[in-house]
Amino acid sequence: MNDIPAGFLSREGDNGHSRKAKERMLGQRARVIWLGGLSGAGKTTLGLALEQRLLELGFLAQLIDGDIVRHGINSNLQFSLDDRIENIRRVSEVSSLFLKSGVITINCFITPTNAMRRLAREILGEDLLEVFIHAPLEVCENRDPKGLYRKARRGEIADFTGVGSPFEVPEHPDLTVHTHEQGVDECLRQLVDFILPRIRLE
Ligand code: ADX
Repeated sequence: MNDIPAGFLSREGDNGHSRKAKERMLGQRARVIWLGGLSGAGKTTLGLALEQRLLELGFLAQLIDGDIVRHGINSNLQFSLDDRIENIRRVSEVSSLFLKSGVITINCFITPTNAMRRLAREILGEDLLEVFIHAPLEVCENRDPKGLYRKARRGEIADFTGVGSPFEVPEHPDLTVHTHEQGVDECLRQLVDFILPRIRLE
């Protein structure tokens, strides 16, 4: 008896039963919508709003947020570049499992370097939609919703992105949203307009 599905062990395979069947069941094409950008740029605000909107439209989407993941599966990681790479690698692998179950994920992670973005692309391929949630550092620092920039400037947080640790402008984002120039509603509209054609089943 050999009823193990083809490609069971391959990265590209379903590692179980067909992703296509699961996508048909859910009526959606699974994707990973990756929102990257500085702390305070608006990733979590937009991620939450996007998840809510997709659910209202009948799509099954799951937010995966840096602040949550770093208290759970990645609680052993800090903010060195190596730990950030490992953070992004694990989240990409977890997202790949969601893809195989037909579910859309919305990933909110700073993802500060192009090497990290390439790593996510290597793992997720064309299923990855890379969105740059952009606001200039001065704007993010003025917003400082968690008071972390203030602490970083006082030297209380080492390796804070934009202060003691680099943030590279993304080279090839699929979409850039300018949160310093538009309000949440307009940013959300741009995101939804970009995403909807890409999560509809043909
Ligand atoms: S990433 O660089 O590895 O992509 P991630 O998005 O998971 O970062 O985590 C960022 C969140 O961790 C921030 O929103 C902030 O709340 C918190 N944080 C704590 N220390 C730092 C730091 N040194 N640099 C950036 N964010 C930090």
